Amino acid sequence: MDSILIRGGTPLHGEIPIAGAKNACLALMPATLLSEEPLTLTNVPRLSDIKTMSLLLQSLGVEVSALQDGKVVAMSSHGLASSCADYDIVRKMRASNLVLGPLLAREGQAVVSLPGGCAIGARPMDIHVEALEALGAEIELRDGYLHAVAKSGLKGAIVPLRFASVGATENTLMAATLARGTTVIENAAREPEIVDLATCLRKMGARIEGDGTSRIEIEGVDRLTGATHPVIADRIELGTYMLAPAITGGEVECIGGRLDLVESFAEKLDAAEISVEQTQRGVKVSRRNGRIGAVDVATAPFPGFPTDLQAQMMALLCTAEGVSHLEETIFENRFMHAPELTRMGAEIEVHGGTATVTGVERLKGAPVMATDLRASVSLILAGLAAEGETLVSRVYHLDRGYEHVEEKLSAVGARIERVAAT
Ligand code: EPZ
Repeated sequence: MDSILIRGGTPLHGEIPIAGAKNACLALMPATLLSEEPLTLTNVPRLSDIKTMSLLLQSLGVEVSALQDGKVVAMSSHGLASSCADYDIVRKMRASNLVLGPLLAREGQAVVSLPGGCAIGARPMDIHVEALEALGAEIELRDGYLHAVAKSGLKGAIVPLRFASVGATENTLMAATLARGTTVIENAAREPEIVDLATCLRKMGARIEGDGTSRIEIEGVDRLTGATHPVIADRIELGTYMLAPAITGGEVECIGGRLDLVESFAEKLDAAEISVEQTQRGVKVSRRNGRIGAVDVATAPFPGFPTDLQAQMMALLCTAEGVSHLEETIFENRFMHAPELTRMGAEIEVHGGTATVTGVERLKGAPVMATDLRASVSLILAGLAAEGETLVSRVYHLDRGYEHVEEKLSAVGARIERVAAT
């Protein structure tokens, strides 16, 4: 397993390109299952999760071609060979469960392994199941797999979600595009990735209104066509790299970044004395007056503070002047970066869903271990600011969600390199 070695203390200056959104792409790719015509995605991020989704779709009989060094993915599912998403793929990536809705809509059946727990929480699928049952599917859990059938096809319905689940909204949205009649998703997730998926589905001929609000209305159609669609910029990668100059004291412009995708996050950076500016080419970030102010943060569904930026924000607040509180309201176990940051000299106390961070003068480099995707990058950020060397192990977590992280950071002056496992 590779590690990443960082020699901290260098203020970063320059430009970091922001890639297409992993979490948009992982929902857009299964949409190919809804049509027999080709679906081509551009601005695709080069990530291991995208490769995993490609393998899953190929196992179902979809032709998937990665072009232009992986930035373009051309898919065609004119003939499906299977409607079973195996455990060995699904356990590696929960987003594999996003084939459930499209397979049910296209084939009238689907067998999808339950993803199983992951580092950050149990992450069940009850909301997905309830929503698809509301559309007329019969779903049974057997041998760790969800066996779903819709013998006479799916029928439009009112679908109230008990929680604004991103994945359940995406599965229901895709299934409803081919259901008979009208579907209304209530308490739908409002993430930009949902809007990006709806935009692509409309290009395919779907009739969708209200995406981006908590009430989405879908008028089912008989069939969908193909389309070509650019993946939206990754707001989580953007937020992550906005924190790099904030934590090191330099100035960086995140090319392709859109401030409207990270409003609540940017408000917290402003409160922490970080200057954030939308430019013609992206988002420029630097410290306002040399110090970082303590702030309180509570994660929430979009447009609230993203849970996927909580770990990274904690890294920044470790050297803030004063005491900060971070409340994680989405996942039950998403503070595993805290003990690793503590190894670097951070003062963090975790009680239930709240972490209290008392700022220290300077972090000190140390060997630390990545535990999940966003925790791993928070350790990289801490290492950029820390005195001395930080060695982050198990960086396969990182490669799931950040393309060429050491190249992007080296280009703005970071002393960072990948150390291949011996
Ligand atoms: C998506 O996961 C993202 N992944 C996650 O990003 C992100 O953290 C999450 O949304 C919240 O924003 C992708 O888009 C591929 P949820 P998802 O369904 O859809 C509970 C990353 O780092 N829940 O909104 O799985 C669940 O346990 C990843 O890129 C149920 O109880 O998230 C969690 O506590 C991590 N039952 C909460 O809801 C269900 O049926 C939010 O889950 C579904 C979810």
